[in-house]
Formats: sequence, structure tokens, C-alpha cells
Amino acid sequence: MKKRVIAINSSKRKRNTYGLLEQMSKQLKENNIDVDIVNLFDYDIRPCIGCEHCLRKGSCNINDEGELLMKKLTEYDGIILSSPVYMGNISGQLKVFIDRTCRWFHRPEIVGKPTLFVTTTAASGIRDTFKSLETVAIQWGAFPTDYISRNTKNMTKPVSDKEYKKFLIHLFLPREKYKLSMKQVMHFQVQKVLAEKILKIDRVYWEKEGWLNTRYFYNAKTSPISKGMGNLLYFILNKRVENKQE
Ligand SMILES: Cc1cc2nc3c(=O)[nH]c(=O)nc-3n(C[C@H](O)[C@H](O)[C@H](O)COP(=O)(O)O)c2cc1C
Repeated sequence: MKKRVIAINSSKRKRNTYGLLEQMSKQLKENNIDVDIVNLFDYDIRPCIGCEHCLRKGSCNINDEGELLMKKLTEYDGIILSSPVYMGNISGQLKVFIDRTCRWFHRPEIVGKPTLFVTTTAASGIRDTFKSLETVAIQWGAFPTDYISRNTKNMTKPVSDKEYKKFLIHLFLPREKYKLSMKQVMHFQVQKVLAEKILKIDRVYWEKEGWLNTRYFYNAKTSPISKGMGNLLYFILNKRVENKQE
């Protein structure tokens, strides 16, 4: 069955990062995968104003295209999140969009979507950029797969099949066969405690999704160590975080 992937390009210019995305789109097409490249700069997405309306009420107070792009992300089977390295990290425009997805930390809507990370740089900052992108994906409940980078020295080096193998496999693999990292399991436990103790709107959502009595957003493989650490973290947080819900 054909799969659809959305690739977010967060550089204004369509050069290094965009070039890599274009190249990969062609390669993925040969694997029965359609890729839609979305240029963040084509969307009117303004900075979060910190009102927390999305967290507390569910909708955003800013009338722009932030919600439109968030909805778009929910419609695809997989995500390619890309950024040029700017000052050692992701681009500002991408961070602006990520901030706008804050309610997904509380009430995730794209859980389990395989996610591939792409970055280009003149020389440095790849590790921190990937770390930021991966953390966001985990906060969304998405599933991190591969990490593809290029720098000035190897910018034109073709992307090999091996570099996006995990992404490809996970697009077609049933979720119960996914193997969760400790970071994913730990994040889930933190999000669960918040849902149970802080905002009622979160608890209602988590109850509806059936996540309050589970180890993760969906059934998947977990190592005994991750499981144990997750349970321990939940136990500690559950004791420490004060219940603010009536
Ligand atoms: C504002 C800005 C900040 C940058 N910061 C870094 C950096 O910290 N380290 C680095 O090696 N390259 C840095 N670069 C270079 C870009 O990461 C590199 O040219 C990248 O491939 C650009 O991607 P693009 O063609 O998709 O825009 C920076 C470029 C710009 C414009």
C-alpha cells in the first residue's frame, strides 16, 4: 500500500536542505512513498504569545496558519523534519512552529508517526540540532527513526538507501513491532502524570485515548530496563506532583 510523507523545509532559501529533501523525495517515490515538501515560509505562522489558551481551552488565540499546518501533519503516515543549522541549532522559523504545537505535549495527536530528521550545516551543530528535533518528535509521541546530515564537504554526496532504512521499515511495520527507547518511555510517564494531576482537559483526553493505564501511547516493544525506569519515574512523580484537579 502506498504511504504519504510530509517533509517540512524550514529554510527560507531552497538550497542545501531543500535539495536534500528533493533528492530523498525521488528516492522514496521509488519505494512507493509520496513525499509532499512543505516550505514553512509559505505559511503565515506567527510566534506563540504565551497565553496558554491552547493548553487550557484547546484552540489557539492567534488567527494564522499554525493550526492548518498542524492539521496537515496529522494527515500523513510519516514525517520528515528538517532544518539548516543556525547558531548551532534548529532554525528560528522551525522553533516558532514547534512552540505553536505546545498542546501536543499535553494532548498528542500524531503518536507513532515514523519521523526522519534531516539537517545541513557549513560545519558544526549537527548533534545539537538532531537532539532538538528528536526531543520535539518524542514530545509529540512520534517515532524517531533516521538522522541524515550533510556539511560543506559532503553536501552533494547522494543519500544512500541505508541512511533512511529505518524510516522506510517503520512506515510499513505494525506499531506493536516498534522498539521504544528509554527516552520515549520516560517522556510518556511525565506526560501521564501531568495529565492526571494538572489540567482536567488533558485527563479527559488521556482517558478517551485509553492512555492512563498503559506504558505508552500504543503497544510496542520495551526493554525491561526502560520499563523499570519508566515505572520508577512515574512512582516518584506521582508522589511529588501535587494534584491540582478538582
Ligand atoms: C543564520 C545562520 C546561522 C548559521 N549557523 C551555523 C552554525 O552555527 N554552524 C555551521 O556550521 N553553519 C551555520 N550556518 C550555515 C548553514 O547551516 C548552512 O549553510 C546550511 O547548509 C544552510 O542550509 P540551506 O541552504 O537549506 O539554507 C548558518 C547559516 C545561517 C544563515
